[in-house]
Parts: sequence; C-alpha cells; structure tokens
Amino acid sequence: MILVTGANGQLGRRIVQHLIARAPALLGGQLAVSVRDPARADDLARRGVHVRQGDFSQPESLARAFAGAERLVMVSTDGPRALRIAQHRNAIQAAREAGVRHILYTSFMDADAAAPTELAVVHKDTEAALADSGVAHTIVRNTLYADDLCLQVAPDMQQDVLRLPAGDGAVSLVSRNELAQAIAAAALAPRLDKRVYTLTGQASARYADIAARIARVRGKPLRYQDVPVDDYIRDLIDHGLPAWFAAALGDMFRCVGEGRFAATTCDFAALVGHPPKSLDCLIHEFYAPRNPS
Ligand SMILES: NC(=O)c1ccc[n+]([C@@H]2O[C@H](COP(=O)([O-])OP(=O)(O)OC[C@H]3O[C@@H](n4cnc5c(N)ncnc54)[C@H](OP(=O)(O)O)[C@@H]3O)[C@@H](O)[C@H]2O)c1
Repeated sequence: MILVTGANGQLGRRIVQHLIARAPALLGGQLAVSVRDPARADDLARRGVHVRQGDFSQPESLARAFAGAERLVMVSTDGPRALRIAQHRNAIQAAREAGVRHILYTSFMDADAAAPTELAVVHKDTEAALADSGVAHTIVRNTLYADDLCLQVAPDMQQDVLRLPAGDGAVSLVSRNELAQAIAAAALAPRLDKRVYTLTGQASARYADIAARIARVRGKPLRYQDVPVDDYIRDLIDHGLPAWFAAALGDMFRCVGEGRFAATTCDFAALVGHPPKSLDCLIHEFYAPRNPS
C-alpha cells in the first residue's frame, strides 16, 4: 500500500490524483492518505482511498495513520523552522516503527548547500534524519513552484512592477501539478536509479526576463525591480505575512540572487518520460486573458 501524507494540501492532493490516474488499481485497497482533517478528504474516501487522521505534531496519531503502509510519500509541512524539523522527525520515526519499507520525501532545492536557505535548513535536517533512520528512502528536491509567480505578481494583476530581492539571479520554475506528477511516478516506479532527484524546469530565467514574458502574454506592462531584501521583508510583514515567513522568503530570494536556484536537471524527464512545460507555456497558462464562455 502507498500512503501519501498532506493530501489535503495543494501538492499532496495532486500527488494522489496522479497516482490514481497512473494506477487506478490502487483504489482496490492499495492507496491511503494521512491528513489532519479527514472530513476535508471525503471526496477521496468516496473514491475508495483509505483516509486516516494523522498530525506530524501528534506522534500517537501517526502510528495508526501509517499502519500497513509499504511506501510512504512524505510531504513536507509548513510553519517555522523548529516546528517543521520536529514534525518531520516524528513522521520518520513513526514510519520506521510502523514498518514502512520506503519513504519518498518532498525536499527542496539548496538542501545540500553548506549554509542552506532558511527554508531549506529544515529539508537538510530531514534528509539527515532519513539517512540515520535506516529506512530505504528517495529524496525529491523540488524547485520553486511556478504557481507562486501569481502571488508575486499581485493577485489582482494590476501591478506593473515585480519587486523582488533576487538581483540578477535566475530560477528554474515548475508547476505544482507537474511536480506532483513526477512524485507520483517516482512512488510507482518499481526501481529508482537515484537516491536524490532534483526536479527543475527545462531552463532557468532571470526575473527581468520572466516579467517581460508575463507582460507579453497578459498584454500589460510588467517590469522587474530588484529591491533591498530588508525593504521586501518589511513590505511582506506590512501586508500581513508572519515575520518568520517574510524573513524566509527574503532569504530565499537573496539566494536566488546568488544563483542557487538556477540549476537545471533532467530528473523530471527521467521520472515522467518527457520534459516539464516550458516557462512560456506555464506563463501562458497562468496569465493569458481568458475568453468568456
Ligand atoms: N517548492 C516550493 O516552491 C514550495 C512552496 C511552498 C511550499 N513548499 C513546501 O511544500 C509543501 C507542500 O506544498 P503545498 O503547496 O501543498 O502547501 P500547502 O497547500 O500549504 O499544504 C501544506 C501541507 O502541510 C501539511 N501539514 C501542515 N502541518 C502539518 C502537520 N502538523 N502534520 C501533517 N501535515 C501537516 C498539510 O497537511 P494536511 O493535508 O493535513 O492539510 C499540507 O499538506 C509545503 O508544506 C512546504 O513545505 C514548497
């Protein structure tokens, strides 16, 4: 049985959908999810997915949630650093005690740096905990979600300046949905050749270039402006983001500026069988004006 954690989240739910699409036979009792609120996974239960309650902050819930799982797709949680580190360690220990044979963990680019970005520090710790656990595991390091561009370019789309502290650094973006597709493929693979897969776009691009491409597609000007990281963090806090998260994003874009999110690999294609969508294709999906139906 394959068990996916975090299946009420945006990535976890898409992983489950791709698993079902690729292997419908799993619905005959071989697919389970663990979520904090089972009522929100009713649709999955109706389709034949075993829905279990599990909270990484409550280890006793995980013993029940993970029982009988052979493969665990462990989706990283959100929240401040210390909380996530403890949660991930709880989940790994519970998986080991439940006899899980293989853990597939959704990590983050930069997790192997000597001094990883604030967001990647958690993943570095979790990768180390997996190595110490003795449980066979595969690490899938995700690049930045292309979907988040929609938040960076204000949701009302009226903004004409994309302000980020990313300097001249390039990023390789992939949509959440495609990342989920690759993770589902990895979870179903009879054999995985690598211990660490790094999922990136086909190519990387600088934010000045990304802004120009968005402008072309939406038919409205958009230019990139590099801003000081402290101004960016203050702005996010003024707009209601928790201080820890604002600081973590500021740190991440600083590292983008250092070129640490620019790498590209062929790992997506190795898992899925074809490359991920091009940046232009993604931008078109997110920004092309919709014809009223
Ligand atoms: N690569 C990137 O650009 C990027 C961007 C944002 C986030 N991330 C990371 O990727 C993860 C998945 O992304 P997403 O888009 O699905 O985020 P999301 O929609 O905000 O979902 C958050 C996920 O965290 C889980 N979670 C939170 N607290 C938990 C706890 N105490 N116990 C168990 N699970 C808990 C949730 O599980 P439930 O199903 O129980 O709600 C949910 O699956 C995030 O949590 C974060 O670590 C990566």
